[in-house]
Amino acid sequence: MTVQEFIPESYTNTLTNGSVKWSSPSNIALVKYWGKKEHQIPANPSISFTLDNCRTTTTLKFEKKASSSDFSFDVFLEGEQKDDFKPKIETFFKRIEQYLPFLKEYHFVIDTSNSFPHSSGIASSASGMSALALCLMSVEQQLLNVSMSESFHFYKKASFLARLGSGSACRSLEGDLIVWGSHQEIDGSSNLYGTKYPFEVHDNFKNYQDTILLVDKGEKQVSSTVGHNLMHNHPYAENRFNQAHDNLSKLISVFKEGDLKSFIDIVESEALTLHAMMMTSMPYFILMKPNTLEIINRIWKFRQDTGLHISFTLDAGANVHILYPEAEAEPIFEFIKTELVAYCQNGHYICDKIGFGAKQLPI
Ligand code: PMV
Repeated sequence: MTVQEFIPESYTNTLTNGSVKWSSPSNIALVKYWGKKEHQIPANPSISFTLDNCRTTTTLKFEKKASSSDFSFDVFLEGEQKDDFKPKIETFFKRIEQYLPFLKEYHFVIDTSNSFPHSSGIASSASGMSALALCLMSVEQQLLNVSMSESFHFYKKASFLARLGSGSACRSLEGDLIVWGSHQEIDGSSNLYGTKYPFEVHDNFKNYQDTILLVDKGEKQVSSTVGHNLMHNHPYAENRFNQAHDNLSKLISVFKEGDLKSFIDIVESEALTLHAMMMTSMPYFILMKPNTLEIINRIWKFRQDTGLHISFTLDAGANVHILYPEAEAEPIFEFIKTELVAYCQNGHYICDKIGFGAKQLPI
């Protein structure tokens, strides 16, 4: 598919006002996206588990304006007006206007809430941008006068739009394993949108658990835009991008065979490589905190002592995602509560698991 195919035919319906609502999940990458080219094209393919509990719910109200010269919208988070969110959304609207030509014709009220605390260090851009993209797609469907089932590329275009808001958001629409970025062995994979992982996945990975330990709830030290840019002229960039392709290839048989040991090796190495890229860029950053390392060391010791398949991954921050199979959930969760929660800020953690994607909600 090319970008031109996302430019709609002329709208057949007229709408003066209305309201749509979506709930969209966050996701956690197993093979990380870090580094991008122009137009939010990823430098390497990535794959993520769609989460279930960490969600953004967005209601989008729209009302036809007299003039269509500019974008016009207000944003609310948990009922409170958030003008500081506007520049990011304005940039998003500019990027997607040619694919949604109705944007300047309406005034929008974007009313959004997160199931997790905003200042938890959990990336809300993936769930937030995907929920907004889905709402806009629902408006477009009404303008095109088609139902969701008639619109064969509803999720594809929603993912294409979400990507232009925040790269990893394009992996937050469907579940449960999503690939973004073209990969030689994965048919249908694309740099333009996320697609469902198409191959066999062993039952070991069904209902995979993710307990998120909130080590540092502060604002991100490095924004992802700055972080991705650090990969330009990075001395190890090319090797890193090739490694991501290789790791995704390896995961194909790992998922098929249910090989938890190799899964852990790949996923932990990906997390540490992401952080290594930041430590070796110019300027350089250390995004882990002492408690991040303490948790990692304790996970490794517990794994060695028990033989259980506990592992971790990290985003571009200090929080730790602990991943483990459902079959081993009881002893592992007990260990988390008794030994690891002490290293979380104010003892805060979030229980999540692999999920099945966004939901359209009744108004
Ligand atoms: O979507 P962005 O631009 O916020 O980038 C997110 C990058 C990581 O979360 C660090 C990795 C990933 O693939 O999600």
